[in-house]
Amino acid sequence: MRIGVYGGSFDPLHKGHIALLQGALKGGFIDIALVIPSARNNFKTYTNQLPCPYRYYMLKDCIEELELEDVYPCDIEMGIEGTSYTAVILDKLTDPDYIVPFLQDLGIKKKKANEQHNFFWIMGSDTIASFEHWYKPADILSKATLLSAMRPGSDVDIQKIASGIENNLGGHVELFRFDGIECSSSEILKDMDFTLCPKPVRDFIKLHDLYSDKNILDGVSDEDKVTFFESAIGMYPYLKEKRLLHTLNVGYLSCKLARRFGEDPGKALIAGALHDCAKELDIDYQRKLARSYSGDIFEDKKLLHSPAGAVFAREKFGIEDEGILDAICYHTTGRGDMTKLEKIVYLADKIEPSRTYTDLTEIRKAALTDLDEAVRMTVRSVKTKFEEQGRDIHPYTLAMMKDLRI
Ligand SMILES: [Fe+2]
Ligand SMILES: [Fe+2]
Repeated sequence: MRIGVYGGSFDPLHKGHIALLQGALKGGFIDIALVIPSARNNFKTYTNQLPCPYRYYMLKDCIEELELEDVYPCDIEMGIEGTSYTAVILDKLTDPDYIVPFLQDLGIKKKKANEQHNFFWIMGSDTIASFEHWYKPADILSKATLLSAMRPGSDVDIQKIASGIENNLGGHVELFRFDGIECSSSEILKDMDFTLCPKPVRDFIKLHDLYSDKNILDGVSDEDKVTFFESAIGMYPYLKEKRLLHTLNVGYLSCKLARRFGEDPGKALIAGALHDCAKELDIDYQRKLARSYSGDIFEDKKLLHSPAGAVFAREKFGIEDEGILDAICYHTTGRGDMTKLEKIVYLADKIEPSRTYTDLTEIRKAALTDLDEAVRMTVRSVKTKFEEQGRDIHPYTLAMMKDLRI
């Protein structure tokens, strides 16, 4: 098969990206396209963009909802350590041990998946000019043909650049005429006008309240940013889409609440983002981890992931800060004498943007001005739900209620 590979930030994915892919497919240059969101981009500080799982699922949901034929999302970069250079990605992607099972998982028959494949690295007309300055460009050309869009009437003499690459580095460059939509993700974000994003992308952005606060990471140290972005990638193998996006949403909201109520935004970002990190681990393993945390035993299966999460966050993601670990440990039950950080994560978990289990308008409004009142309202709604279901309220929650004078 001729496999097109299209890498980029896709922050956010827009109609120009889709048109380029369809141009390459419909023009008959490739049989299928794999689209790879960058996990760690060398060209910009990766901590300024959305963590990779958001961009991956934005892409995946869009491809599925638009039923784009022969286009597939590829998560390969989240499994590569260090900077995601094209040469490194192609090295892994072209390895039969990776590509054959990957294609079979997409539903491609074993015989076809095992064929000798030709790889094409798809580029927009704006990126080919800098290709010779990429990391190990000759290695890239030894693994893949460059397939570059050529915009009619463009100032850049792409044909000249293409033959320059072939002469200097060997390999092969193919060009295809493409007069698709003129747009860029950075322009979209500058104007905050998402009309050039496909509808599934607009819906995704709205559901998770992405991009609305340009200064969302203000006050977060570079070290904490890196911990957050690496944790997002690190949790990807352990959580399914909905839970992973939920836990990251809690991170962003906790960060905002921390700034509003005078807590450390970096700690809140990390505690919120990791609060559910253990929730989909094997239940016996959760119990084992939970028992090792500060002697607190939560025997209820639904609660185990909280102390287990604290241990998993420490062992897997290197979190040592006790305040962060306790905020993870007590996010489901609360407890007496809660710290501000614990209250923030507890609240954010219940009201993050994609939560729709009940009408949260009033609690969200209270969370703009009064942390304790918003927490109080949340606990009251939890209490009502438990009473309706005939469930006992955890002693820690009772202690929390006493503190909050409920
Ligand atoms: Fe949880
Ligand atoms: Fe949660």
